[in-house]
Amino acid sequence: MKSIINNTAVALVLGLAGALGVATATAQGDPNAGQAKVATCAACHGTDGNSIAPAFPKIAGQGEKYLFKQLMDIKSGARAAPQMIGQLDNSSEQDLRDMAAYFASQQLQVAGAQPISVMLNSGENVDGLALGRDLYRAGNPATGVPACMGCHSPSGLGNEPAGYPRLGGQYAGYIEAQLKAFRTGTRANDGDTRVMRSVAKQLSDAEIKALSQYIAGLTP
Ligand code: HEC
Ligand code: HEC
Repeated sequence: MKSIINNTAVALVLGLAGALGVATATAQGDPNAGQAKVATCAACHGTDGNSIAPAFPKIAGQGEKYLFKQLMDIKSGARAAPQMIGQLDNSSEQDLRDMAAYFASQQLQVAGAQPISVMLNSGENVDGLALGRDLYRAGNPATGVPACMGCHSPSGLGNEPAGYPRLGGQYAGYIEAQLKAFRTGTRANDGDTRVMRSVAKQLSDAEIKALSQYIAGLTP
Protein backbone atom coordinates (compact mmCIF):
# COMPACT_ATOMS: atom_id res chain seq x y z
CA MET A 1 0.00 0.00 0.00
CA LYS A 2 2.77 2.35 1.02
CA SER A 3 4.67 1.82 -2.22
CA ILE A 4 1.54 2.48 -4.32
CA ILE A 5 1.13 5.85 -2.64
CA ASN A 6 4.80 6.64 -3.22
CA ASN A 7 4.56 5.68 -6.88
CA THR A 8 1.50 7.87 -7.30
CA ALA A 9 3.32 10.76 -5.67
CA VAL A 10 6.34 10.26 -7.94
CA ALA A 11 4.12 10.12 -11.02
CA LEU A 12 2.40 13.34 -9.94
CA VAL A 13 5.70 15.12 -9.44
CA LEU A 14 7.02 13.92 -12.80
CA GLY A 15 3.80 14.98 -14.50
CA LEU A 16 4.05 18.43 -12.94
CA ALA A 17 7.68 18.79 -13.95
CA GLY A 18 6.74 17.81 -17.50
CA ALA A 19 3.97 20.39 -17.62
CA LEU A 20 6.31 23.11 -16.33
CA GLY A 21 8.92 22.10 -18.89
CA VAL A 22 6.44 22.65 -21.71
CA ALA A 23 5.30 25.98 -20.26
CA THR A 24 8.81 27.44 -20.12
CA ALA A 25 10.16 25.92 -23.33
CA THR A 26 9.42 29.08 -25.34
CA ALA A 27 11.63 31.41 -23.26
CA GLN A 28 14.86 29.81 -22.15
CA GLY A 29 17.08 32.17 -20.24
CA ASP A 30 20.14 30.95 -18.37
CA PRO A 31 20.69 32.81 -15.08
CA ASN A 32 24.33 31.69 -14.84
CA ALA A 33 25.12 32.92 -18.34
CA GLY A 34 23.19 36.09 -17.48
CA GLN A 35 25.31 36.84 -14.45
CA ALA A 36 28.35 37.25 -16.70
CA LYS A 37 26.49 39.78 -18.90
CA VAL A 38 25.21 42.28 -16.36
CA ALA A 39 28.41 43.99 -15.11
CA THR A 40 27.45 47.27 -16.81
CA CYS A 41 23.99 47.26 -15.19
CA ALA A 42 25.37 47.35 -11.64
CA ALA A 43 26.10 51.08 -11.58
CA CYS A 44 22.36 51.77 -11.56
CA HIS A 45 20.60 48.51 -10.72
CA GLY A 46 23.12 47.05 -8.24
CA THR A 47 24.88 43.74 -8.84
CA ASP A 48 21.78 41.76 -7.82
CA GLY A 49 19.07 44.08 -9.19
CA ASN A 50 18.40 45.87 -5.90
CA SER A 51 18.96 49.32 -7.36
CA ILE A 52 20.78 51.95 -5.40
CA ALA A 53 18.29 54.83 -5.70
CA PRO A 54 14.56 55.31 -6.39
CA ALA A 55 15.30 56.74 -9.84
CA PHE A 56 16.38 53.24 -10.87
CA PRO A 57 13.81 50.44 -10.65
CA LYS A 58 14.55 47.42 -8.54
CA ILE A 59 14.62 44.44 -10.90
CA ALA A 60 15.64 41.68 -8.45
CA GLY A 61 12.95 39.01 -8.24
CA GLN A 62 10.91 40.61 -11.04
CA GLY A 63 9.12 38.19 -13.39
CA GLU A 64 11.38 36.80 -16.10
CA LYS A 65 8.82 37.18 -18.88
CA TYR A 66 8.12 40.80 -17.93
CA LEU A 67 11.86 41.62 -17.69
CA PHE A 68 12.56 40.12 -21.10
CA LYS A 69 9.71 42.11 -22.69
CA GLN A 70 10.97 45.36 -21.14
CA LEU A 71 14.53 44.71 -22.35
CA MET A 72 13.24 44.05 -25.88
CA ASP A 73 11.08 47.21 -25.71
CA ILE A 74 13.93 49.37 -24.36
CA LYS A 75 16.35 48.05 -26.99
CA SER A 76 13.89 48.69 -29.83
CA GLY A 77 12.88 52.10 -28.46
CA ALA A 78 9.24 51.03 -27.93
CA ARG A 79 9.84 52.08 -24.31
CA ALA A 80 11.82 55.29 -23.90
CA ALA A 81 14.50 54.89 -21.21
CA PRO A 82 16.99 57.71 -21.86
CA GLN A 83 19.49 56.51 -19.26
CA MET A 84 19.65 53.08 -20.86
CA ILE A 85 20.38 54.29 -24.37
CA GLY A 86 23.32 52.32 -25.76
CA GLN A 87 23.32 49.85 -22.86
CA LEU A 88 21.75 47.04 -24.88
CA ASP A 89 23.09 47.81 -28.36
CA ASN A 90 25.55 44.91 -28.36
CA SER A 91 23.20 42.43 -26.67
CA SER A 92 21.55 39.63 -28.65
CA GLU A 93 18.05 38.39 -27.93
CA GLN A 94 19.62 35.44 -26.07
CA ASP A 95 21.70 37.87 -23.97
CA LEU A 96 18.48 39.66 -22.98
CA ARG A 97 16.83 36.33 -22.07
CA ASP A 98 19.84 35.40 -19.92
CA MET A 99 19.89 38.80 -18.17
CA ALA A 100 16.16 38.51 -17.47
CA ALA A 101 16.64 35.02 -16.03
CA TYR A 102 19.50 36.24 -13.83
CA PHE A 103 17.65 39.19 -12.28
CA ALA A 104 14.46 37.12 -11.90
CA SER A 105 16.43 34.62 -9.81
CA GLN A 106 17.66 37.27 -7.34
CA GLN A 107 16.03 38.15 -4.02
CA LEU A 108 14.16 41.47 -3.82
CA GLN A 109 14.93 43.73 -0.86
CA VAL A 110 11.65 45.48 -0.13
CA ALA A 111 11.87 49.29 -0.37
CA GLY A 112 9.36 49.85 2.45
CA ALA A 113 6.59 52.43 2.85
CA GLN A 114 6.69 55.84 4.53
CA PRO A 115 3.57 57.15 6.27
CA ILE A 116 1.94 59.92 4.21
CA SER A 117 -1.16 62.00 4.24
CA VAL A 118 -2.79 63.02 0.93
CA MET A 119 -5.42 65.63 0.14
CA LEU A 120 -8.56 64.50 -1.69
CA ASN A 121 -10.35 66.72 -4.23
CA SER A 122 -12.79 67.59 -1.43
CA GLY A 123 -9.90 69.21 0.47
CA GLU A 124 -9.99 66.51 3.14
CA ASN A 125 -6.64 65.04 4.29
CA VAL A 126 -6.60 61.25 4.59
CA ASP A 127 -4.12 58.50 5.50
CA GLY A 128 -2.30 57.76 2.23
CA LEU A 129 -1.41 54.17 3.05
CA ALA A 130 -5.04 53.30 3.86
CA LEU A 131 -6.24 54.99 0.67
CA GLY A 132 -3.53 53.19 -1.32
CA ARG A 133 -4.57 49.83 0.12
CA ASP A 134 -8.25 50.43 -0.70
CA LEU A 135 -7.43 51.47 -4.27
CA TYR A 136 -5.04 48.56 -4.77
CA ARG A 137 -7.61 46.04 -3.55
CA ALA A 138 -10.87 47.49 -4.81
CA GLY A 139 -10.07 50.25 -7.32
CA ASN A 140 -12.24 53.37 -7.42
CA PRO A 141 -15.67 52.41 -8.76
CA ALA A 142 -16.71 56.08 -8.95
CA THR A 143 -14.02 56.90 -11.53
CA GLY A 144 -13.69 53.48 -13.16
CA VAL A 145 -10.26 52.60 -11.72
CA PRO A 146 -9.98 48.78 -11.62
CA ALA A 147 -8.50 46.89 -8.67
CA CYS A 148 -4.74 46.63 -9.20
CA MET A 149 -4.66 43.27 -7.44
CA GLY A 150 -6.75 41.71 -10.21
CA CYS A 151 -3.64 41.68 -12.39
CA HIS A 152 -0.75 42.41 -10.01
CA SER A 153 -2.01 39.91 -7.36
CA PRO A 154 -3.10 40.69 -3.78
CA SER A 155 0.48 40.29 -2.48
CA GLY A 156 1.98 42.44 -5.26
CA LEU A 157 3.87 39.52 -6.81
CA GLY A 158 2.29 40.02 -10.23
CA ASN A 159 1.46 37.19 -12.60
CA GLU A 160 4.54 35.62 -14.17
CA PRO A 161 2.85 33.49 -16.90
CA ALA A 162 0.79 36.50 -18.02
CA GLY A 163 3.80 38.83 -17.88
CA TYR A 164 2.13 41.18 -15.35
CA PRO A 165 4.96 42.75 -13.36
CA ARG A 166 5.65 42.36 -9.67
CA LEU A 167 5.04 45.70 -7.96
CA GLY A 168 5.29 44.98 -4.22
CA GLY A 169 8.47 46.33 -2.60
CA GLN A 170 9.39 48.60 -5.55
CA TYR A 171 10.56 52.17 -4.83
CA ALA A 172 7.60 54.53 -4.45
CA GLY A 173 9.34 57.18 -6.56
CA TYR A 174 9.69 54.80 -9.49
CA ILE A 175 6.07 53.58 -9.27
CA GLU A 176 4.86 57.18 -9.19
CA ALA A 177 6.97 58.11 -12.21
CA GLN A 178 5.67 55.12 -14.22
CA LEU A 179 2.00 55.80 -13.40
CA LYS A 180 2.46 59.42 -14.49
CA ALA A 181 4.28 58.28 -17.65
CA PHE A 182 1.40 55.93 -18.51
CA ARG A 183 -1.07 58.75 -17.78
CA THR A 184 0.58 61.19 -20.19
CA GLY A 185 1.40 58.42 -22.68
CA THR A 186 5.18 58.96 -22.40
CA ARG A 187 5.26 55.25 -21.63
CA ALA A 188 3.15 53.46 -24.21
CA ASN A 189 4.49 49.91 -24.39
CA ASP A 190 1.44 48.35 -22.72
CA GLY A 191 0.12 46.95 -25.98
CA ASP A 192 -2.89 47.56 -28.20
CA THR A 193 -5.26 47.16 -25.26
CA ARG A 194 -3.54 50.19 -23.63
CA VAL A 195 -4.22 48.51 -20.29
CA MET A 196 -2.02 50.66 -18.06
CA ARG A 197 -2.61 53.88 -20.00
CA SER A 198 -6.36 53.52 -19.44
CA VAL A 199 -5.89 52.63 -15.75
CA ALA A 200 -3.58 55.61 -15.13
CA LYS A 201 -5.78 58.08 -17.02
CA GLN A 202 -8.38 57.74 -14.25
CA LEU A 203 -5.93 58.29 -11.36
CA SER A 204 -5.52 61.64 -9.57
CA ASP A 205 -2.13 62.84 -8.30
CA ALA A 206 -3.22 62.08 -4.73
CA GLU A 207 -4.27 58.54 -5.69
CA ILE A 208 -0.94 57.96 -7.46
CA LYS A 209 1.00 59.14 -4.38
CA ALA A 210 -1.09 56.92 -2.09
CA LEU A 211 -0.80 53.84 -4.33
CA SER A 212 2.96 54.26 -4.82
CA GLN A 213 3.67 54.47 -1.10
CA TYR A 214 1.38 51.52 -0.29
CA ILE A 215 2.98 49.39 -3.03
CA ALA A 216 6.53 50.14 -1.76
CA GLY A 217 5.66 48.39 1.49
CA LEU A 218 3.59 45.56 0.03
CA THR A 219 5.07 42.13 0.74
CA PRO A 220 3.76 38.58 0.24
C1 HEC B 1 22.79 54.68 -16.20
C2 HEC B 1 21.82 53.92 -15.41
C3 HEC B 1 21.34 52.58 -15.96
C4 HEC B 1 22.10 51.51 -16.42
C5 HEC B 1 23.61 51.41 -16.54
C6 HEC B 1 21.14 50.47 -16.74
N1 HEC B 1 19.87 50.89 -16.47
FE1 HEC B 1 18.17 49.76 -16.61
N2 HEC B 1 17.04 51.40 -16.15
C7 HEC B 1 17.54 52.64 -15.80
C8 HEC B 1 16.42 53.56 -15.59
C9 HEC B 1 16.51 55.03 -15.20
C10 HEC B 1 15.24 52.82 -15.85
C11 HEC B 1 13.79 53.33 -15.78
C12 HEC B 1 13.42 53.95 -17.12
C13 HEC B 1 12.06 54.62 -17.04
O1 HEC B 1 11.96 55.63 -16.36
O2 HEC B 1 11.12 54.11 -17.64
C14 HEC B 1 15.67 51.46 -16.18
C15 HEC B 1 14.80 50.42 -16.47
C16 HEC B 1 15.17 49.10 -16.63
C17 HEC B 1 14.28 47.97 -16.76
C18 HEC B 1 12.75 48.02 -16.69
C19 HEC B 1 12.32 47.76 -15.24
C20 HEC B 1 10.84 47.73 -15.01
O3 HEC B 1 10.43 47.52 -13.85
O4 HEC B 1 10.06 47.92 -15.95
C21 HEC B 1 15.04 46.86 -16.92
C22 HEC B 1 14.54 45.44 -17.09
C23 HEC B 1 16.43 47.28 -16.92
N3 HEC B 1 16.48 48.64 -16.72
C24 HEC B 1 17.51 46.43 -17.08
C25 HEC B 1 18.83 46.86 -17.23
C26 HEC B 1 19.93 45.98 -17.61
C27 HEC B 1 19.79 44.50 -17.87
C28 HEC B 1 21.05 46.77 -17.66
C29 HEC B 1 22.46 46.36 -18.05
C30 HEC B 1 22.61 45.74 -19.34
C31 HEC B 1 20.64 48.13 -17.32
N4 HEC B 1 19.30 48.13 -17.07
C32 HEC B 1 21.50 49.21 -17.23
C33 HEC B 1 18.87 52.98 -15.65
C34 HEC B 1 19.93 52.18 -16.01
C1 HEC C 1 -5.90 44.33 -16.52
C2 HEC C 1 -4.60 44.13 -15.90
C3 HEC C 1 -4.01 45.28 -15.10
C4 HEC C 1 -4.59 46.05 -14.12
C5 HEC C 1 -6.03 46.01 -13.62
C6 HEC C 1 -3.55 46.92 -13.61
N1 HEC C 1 -2.36 46.67 -14.27
FE1 HEC C 1 -0.58 47.61 -13.94
N2 HEC C 1 0.27 46.57 -15.51
C7 HEC C 1 -0.37 45.62 -16.27
C8 HEC C 1 0.52 45.17 -17.32
C9 HEC C 1 0.19 44.13 -18.38
C10 HEC C 1 1.72 45.90 -17.17
C11 HEC C 1 3.00 45.77 -18.04
C12 HEC C 1 2.90 46.65 -19.28
C13 HEC C 1 4.18 46.51 -20.12
O1 HEC C 1 4.32 45.47 -20.77
O2 HEC C 1 5.01 47.40 -20.11
C14 HEC C 1 1.54 46.76 -16.01
C15 HEC C 1 2.53 47.62 -15.52
C16 HEC C 1 2.38 48.39 -14.38
C17 HEC C 1 3.41 49.22 -13.81
C18 HEC C 1 4.85 49.37 -14.30
C19 HEC C 1 5.74 48.42 -13.51
C20 HEC C 1 7.23 48.60 -13.78
O3 HEC C 1 8.02 47.84 -13.17
O4 HEC C 1 7.63 49.45 -14.58
C21 HEC C 1 2.87 49.83 -12.71
C22 HEC C 1 3.57 50.80 -11.77
C23 HEC C 1 1.49 49.39 -12.60
N3 HEC C 1 1.22 48.51 -13.63
C24 HEC C 1 0.62 49.79 -11.58
C25 HEC C 1 -0.74 49.45 -11.54
C26 HEC C 1 -1.66 49.99 -10.56
C27 HEC C 1 -1.28 50.95 -9.44
C28 HEC C 1 -2.90 49.47 -10.86
C29 HEC C 1 -4.22 49.76 -10.17
C30 HEC C 1 -4.63 51.16 -10.09
C31 HEC C 1 -2.72 48.59 -12.01
N4 HEC C 1 -1.40 48.61 -12.38
C32 HEC C 1 -3.73 47.86 -12.60
C33 HEC C 1 -1.67 45.16 -16.08
C34 HEC C 1 -2.61 45.69 -15.19
